[in-house]
Amino acid sequence: MNNWNPSSWRDFPIKQQPTYTDLEKLKKVEKELSSYPPLIFAGEAERLKGQLANVAAGKAFLLQGGDCAESFDAFNANNIKDLFKVMMQMAVVLTFSGGCPVVKVGRVAGQFAKPRSADFEEVNGISLPSYRGDIINTAGFSEKERTPKAKRLLKAYNQSASTLNLLRAFARGGMADLHQVHAWNLDFVKDNALGEKYDQLAAKISETMKFMEACGITGDNTVQLKETVLYTSHEALLLNYEEALTRQDSLSGKWYDCSAHMLWIGDRTRDLDGAHLEYFRGINNPIGCKVGPSMKEDELLKLIDALNPENEAGRLNLIVRMGHDKVSDIFPKLLKRVESEGKNIVWSCDPMHGNVEKAPNGYKTRDFANILSEVKQFFQIHKAQGSVAGGIHLEMTGQNVTECTGSTSSAITADGLASRYHTQCDPRLNADQSLELAFMIADTLKEARN
Ligand code: PEP
Ligand code: CO
Repeated sequence: MNNWNPSSWRDFPIKQQPTYTDLEKLKKVEKELSSYPPLIFAGEAERLKGQLANVAAGKAFLLQGGDCAESFDAFNANNIKDLFKVMMQMAVVLTFSGGCPVVKVGRVAGQFAKPRSADFEEVNGISLPSYRGDIINTAGFSEKERTPKAKRLLKAYNQSASTLNLLRAFARGGMADLHQVHAWNLDFVKDNALGEKYDQLAAKISETMKFMEACGITGDNTVQLKETVLYTSHEALLLNYEEALTRQDSLSGKWYDCSAHMLWIGDRTRDLDGAHLEYFRGINNPIGCKVGPSMKEDELLKLIDALNPENEAGRLNLIVRMGHDKVSDIFPKLLKRVESEGKNIVWSCDPMHGNVEKAPNGYKTRDFANILSEVKQFFQIHKAQGSVAGGIHLEMTGQNVTECTGSTSSAITADGLASRYHTQCDPRLNADQSLELAFMIADTLKEARN
C-alpha cells in the first residue's frame, strides 16, 4: 500500500470536522484510545467480507440498519434489545418468505458522528456550532453544549464496547434461537394486522422446526438454529477516532479499523482527493460509500478503483441514496457503466437520505410511500439490467416512535409526528414500518429469485 499509514489522511483536505480548541487534550485522548483494546477482530471483518461477496453474487441479502445517530442519553439495554429483535424479525421474514440468507449489519455500537448541512446553526439571532453527534458535542442549544469536547471520544468507545458486548450476548446466548421467533414480536406490533401476519409466519417456522427436530436437526447439532451474527457498522467520519482504533493484524500484517466490522464514507465526504478516501483505501475491512444524486459516472469509477483496486469481492458496498423522484433518472446509467467495467460491487439501497422533507409543522420527516417507492425502483432497475440488488440500508429503531409518516400499519400523519419524535438526528422507521418494509422486500426477492 503506497505511502499509506493510519495517520496519512492528515495530509489531505478534510470536510465535516469539528474545531477542537484544546488540541493538547485531543492528543491525549487519541493516545489513550490507541492503547484500548480493539472492538472487533480482523478475522470477523474478513468473515463479513466473505458473506458480502455472497450478497454481490445474489446468494444472500444485506440488511443494514439502526439509528441515524446513537445517543449517550438513550443508551440502555432495552433500546439495544428492541433493535436486535426487530432486526431478527426482518431477517426471518426475508429468509423464510424471501428464500434468502440474510447478512445482518447494525448501524450500531459506534454510529455517533454526523455530517451537517451547515457548520453553524442560528436561533433567535444567536449562532452556535451545529450539533455533530454525541461523540463531538451535545444537541442542546447553548455555547457549552455545542463546544466540541475530546473526552467524548472515550465515552463513545465505552458505549460502543458495552453495546457490542450485549449484542454478542444476544446473538450467542439464546435470544437469536429460532424457537424464540414468536417472542421477537414487540408488544406494540402484536395487536395490529402486521403483527398477525408476522405471527402466522412465526407459526409456520415453528412447525418447520418441529419437523426438522423429528428428522434429527436441532439447535444442539446445527448452531445456525440457535445463534446468529449481528455485525456492527458506522460512518467513519471522525478520523481521529478511527485512526486511534486502527490496528495491524498480527497474523496477516494487514491494517483494520477495529472500531466496527464495516465502515462507510458519507455522501458529503467522498471527495476523490480528500482525507476520507485516503484513510479508507488503507484499511482492509469491508467498506461502504454513499452514492447520492450528484455522483458522476467517471467519478464513481475513479472512486471504485481507489477503494478497491484489486476488485476484491465483498470489499465495496455502494449505498445508493438518490431519492424516490431521482433514482430512475440517475441510477440506471451509473449502474450500467459500473457493471460494464466488470466491477465487483455490493449494491444496496438507502431509501432514507434522499427522501427527507419538512412537515408543515416543522418536523423533519420521511414519507413511508416514498421510501417504498425508492426501494421498488431500485429493485426494478437491477432487474432490467440483470444485476443484483444486494441489500437495504435503513434508519430504523425497535422503538414505537413517530418520526416517519405513513405506512398501513402505523398510519402516522404529519400532526401525529409530535407524539413520540425522539431521534437525535434524522427520522427513523419504527418497528412496524421496518417490518412492513421487510415483508414487501421479501415478496420482491421471492419474485426475483423465481
Ligand atoms: C447517514 O447515513 O446518516 C448520512 C448522513 O447519510 P448520507 O451520507 O448519505 O447523507
Ligand atoms: Co441519517
